[in-house]
Amino acid sequence: MRSILVTGGAGFIGSNFVRMVLSEETDCLVVNLDKLTYAGNLENLAEFVSYDNHRFVHGDICDGPLVERLIDEYRVDAIVNFAAESHVDRSITGPKVFIETNVAGTLTLLEAARDKHIGRFIQVSTDEVYGALGPEGKFTEKTPLSPNSPYSASKASADHLVCAFGHTWGVPYNITRCSNNYGPYQFPEKLIPLMINNALQDRDLPVYGDGLYVRDWLYVYDHCTAVWRVLEQAPAGEIYNIGGCNEKANLEVIKLILARLGKPETLVRYVKDRPGHDRRYAIDASKIMDELGWKPSVTFEEGLARTIDWYLGNTKWLANVVSGDYQKYYETMYGSR
Ligand code: NAD
Ligand code: DAU
Repeated sequence: MRSILVTGGAGFIGSNFVRMVLSEETDCLVVNLDKLTYAGNLENLAEFVSYDNHRFVHGDICDGPLVERLIDEYRVDAIVNFAAESHVDRSITGPKVFIETNVAGTLTLLEAARDKHIGRFIQVSTDEVYGALGPEGKFTEKTPLSPNSPYSASKASADHLVCAFGHTWGVPYNITRCSNNYGPYQFPEKLIPLMINNALQDRDLPVYGDGLYVRDWLYVYDHCTAVWRVLEQAPAGEIYNIGGCNEKANLEVIKLILARLGKPETLVRYVKDRPGHDRRYAIDASKIMDELGWKPSVTFEEGLARTIDWYLGNTKWLANVVSGDYQKYYETMYGSR
């Protein structure tokens, strides 16, 4: 049986990944290391917490001795690093923790991977490391890194460290860079779940700037299958973009959500823009498609419908999330709107 250390496995994408592996791969032990920050929620994995092939460990990726102990104890042969501070707005109001987890934490994992001779280190990165696009073109793996926010600067730093450990010590790595994910279990601070939650409560929908910023949407399950494909098939040292070929302006996404929920467009409220807001992201994912045969399984319309239906069917999950620190965070970001 193979044994993988998944970090950040109680977060949005990490928990979808753990769920997928435990449901679809019988021959894999998942050691799930998560600090349970505001974004980590074990409810995401309720039915899997005591699963035979799953060991949840409440801890920090910055804790080197803990990481080394887990590698030894469970004979870990690969690390998939999802753990991060992931929200751009929070990185603008408080960047320090982004450096601690995203940079120093990744460094700690890399040192353990090097010293324990881990077979593969997968760094889950983001298209935001490439910076912003104008109206034309797409990011390829050869696009120079040019991050604009404290969040993306921390992720780009981590990517450089991963490559440096490969170059200097031969740590076998892959980096995946994906576009905006959406789907079940996403914390309602990000665009799609925030708009669904507000619309369900007939609250205003805060649109930054003119609402014409473009993101390239990827259904979270499709991101997970891509990361698994990289882990299983990719040669070491390769970087892969992952995207769903679904470029949409924010307003278009918001109007689709309102239409499906039967809510009026008058809920839209234009608010102050995000400082340094990247205008457009678009991913060229042809490398992973051509070389590893991966492709997304759903269109944006199908994925969005599934996502909205999931939130409608999981109102208790949403209420639990919304009632905690999220409320306080919401007040500081949006006041009483
Ligand atoms: P998330 O914020 O939902 O989850 C992050 C998880 O990491 C949480 O469970 C949190 O408790 C855990 N964590 C944070 N700091 C930790 C630490 N020091 N030690 C251990 N665990 C810690 O994030 P997400 O949206 O699921 O993103 C997962 C990864 O994918 C991140 O690396 C992010 O940069 C990357 N990514 C996300 C998106 C997206 O659209 N959400 C897109 C591209 C890349
Ligand atoms: O591109 C990948 C990145 O996508 C990931 O690396 C990040 O972890 C993830 O958070 C996401 O970053 P974005 O900044 O693109 O996602 P967010 O959901 O915060 O915002 C999406 C767009 O919606 C962006 O143009 C800002 C806008 N927006 C967002 C919020 C929360 C609004 O207009 N109003 C809002 O309230």
